[in-house]
Amino acid sequence: MARPDPHSVTDDAQPTTRHLEWDAVVEFASKRLTATATLHFKEATKSATPFDLDARALEIDTVTDLFGAALKWEALPIDPILGSPLRLHVPAGVLGVRLSYRTGPDASALQWLEPSQTHGGKQPYLFSQCQAIHARSLIPCQDTPARRVSYRASMSVPAGLIAVMAAAPLRSEVKADRTTFHFEMPQVIPPYLLAFAVGELASKDLSPRSRVWSEPGLLEAAAWEFADVERHLTAAESLFGAYDWERFDLLVMPPSFPYGGMENPRLTFLTPTLLAGDRSMVNVVAHELAHSWTGNLVTNVNAEHFWLNEGFTVFAERRILEALEGREVSEMHAALGRNDLDDSVARFEKARTPELTKLRTNLTGIDPDEAFSVVPYEKGYLLLRALEAAAGREKFDGLLKSWLTTHRFGSVNTDDFISHFETSAPGLLAKVNALKWIDSPGVPSDAPRATSARLDAVKAMAGKVPEVNEVSKWSAIEWQLFLEWSPRTLTADQLAMLDSRFHFSTAKNTEVHVAWLLLSLQCGSKVVLPQVEALIGRVGRMKYLKPLFAALHAQPATAGFAKQLFEKNNARLHPIARQVISNMLGK
Ligand code: BES
Ligand code: ZN
Repeated sequence: MARPDPHSVTDDAQPTTRHLEWDAVVEFASKRLTATATLHFKEATKSATPFDLDARALEIDTVTDLFGAALKWEALPIDPILGSPLRLHVPAGVLGVRLSYRTGPDASALQWLEPSQTHGGKQPYLFSQCQAIHARSLIPCQDTPARRVSYRASMSVPAGLIAVMAAAPLRSEVKADRTTFHFEMPQVIPPYLLAFAVGELASKDLSPRSRVWSEPGLLEAAAWEFADVERHLTAAESLFGAYDWERFDLLVMPPSFPYGGMENPRLTFLTPTLLAGDRSMVNVVAHELAHSWTGNLVTNVNAEHFWLNEGFTVFAERRILEALEGREVSEMHAALGRNDLDDSVARFEKARTPELTKLRTNLTGIDPDEAFSVVPYEKGYLLLRALEAAAGREKFDGLLKSWLTTHRFGSVNTDDFISHFETSAPGLLAKVNALKWIDSPGVPSDAPRATSARLDAVKAMAGKVPEVNEVSKWSAIEWQLFLEWSPRTLTADQLAMLDSRFHFSTAKNTEVHVAWLLLSLQCGSKVVLPQVEALIGRVGRMKYLKPLFAALHAQPATAGFAKQLFEKNNARLHPIARQVISNMLGK
């Protein structure tokens, strides 16, 4: 027995799933999917074999081979992180298995929204979020990025609702009070990239290969915010090679979506907080687009090598931004990333878990949602940037492209990275001491630093209350840096003056608004508590929830308020956010 992934029961000695057929009926009343999953093997079994599948809280009805002959199966022991896996007993000469089942009412991949939690307020909404290990709460499968599958799917939903998937839409049929939507994913993907949403949805074309989906009331704003998507695609293609997924559509999610964006292939999911009205948050689109190469085409073999997904993607995101908006802007983003990285490393040190600040991690017994941090993103980015500086840009671009072509539609680990770069550019890794980056905690002291005139100008202002005319040209990103760099010793008067001059309390850019709330809380201000409460009641993106809850929890005066806010919002939180925040508050 050999397991390629500490978060999956997938076993190399057992059959490999190559293609999935999934037929699901969505029932809002019971908050369940009734479904059939057919897993087609890469090849027929040569002899009788166990076949272990990841599952979490699925209610299994029948298990058969492809011809309907019943197969023996049993439940494996339940594990708090892995879930409730299944063991099927498959005879020789079998090409696949079929399971019919129902999802549990608390499936961790799903959020079921009441009409009141949507923008339109009239129809319910359902969406999935499978990364890192939630696909198993939807489908019994080999839930590891070490396995890739193509799929065909159908979803039956109540008439009047639309189902979209991160796949090619084929056709839909209306019968009585249900509509069935059919989809196909011809490229092989890791299971964490399976995704769908059901709700009152409309779409608008942005370019011949891109459209945006959202609830009807948000569509115009969304189309305006993301109007430049084709320029992003063109810039990315010239950097990383042809776009392999045909379409790049966007779906603006309900506010409870726990991430800024999720790179579901052909249909990126985005938080509605990107709709700032000034296109100031489109770097998230660049990030998810970049995953089309780094992550979706070349995929980390498991969560221990997550930096190969996210570090490469942050690097690619900033290269796209540099091409579109110039070096000053991409450098300011790098500076924001560095602030986050330093905070995160300090937190891990304080928690006595510095090993989680290595790029290559050991996550046996650790839930990937709990281990999640900016470290693989920003430390990974810095390593690639150090390599770029050492190799020279042109040479490094070639290395990056050959990495992407060599491992196209494959799964990679950190040793693959080392051997690719060592073979293609002997001595380069040693030049930046890459093994230290990979296997030691913290950030090396010679890590590259962002530099730009606009950064320097912001730094010079930090701690002051600028005059309006001194900062009239600042954009959202400068304000965010300014707030992050302001000392946590500002007085109530200084805070009030800042707010009355620059209106952070009503900032439309959520990054700026949250940076303001954190600065105020950390300076001991109570004035912003109602704003914090309003934001937590409105926005589910964990990037905002986690630091706000942490800041409240850290001070005795507001720790009780943190618990109250959690209780109050518990029912409306996404299941992943609920779990992460409740652990944080020590529940
Ligand atoms: N793939 C991630 C989101 C994710 C990571 C979901 C791990 C579940 C487990 C996505 O690409 C991402 O990184 N989103 C960021 C965007 C940011 C870095 C621009 C986010 O949500 O903040
Ligand atoms: Zn990402």
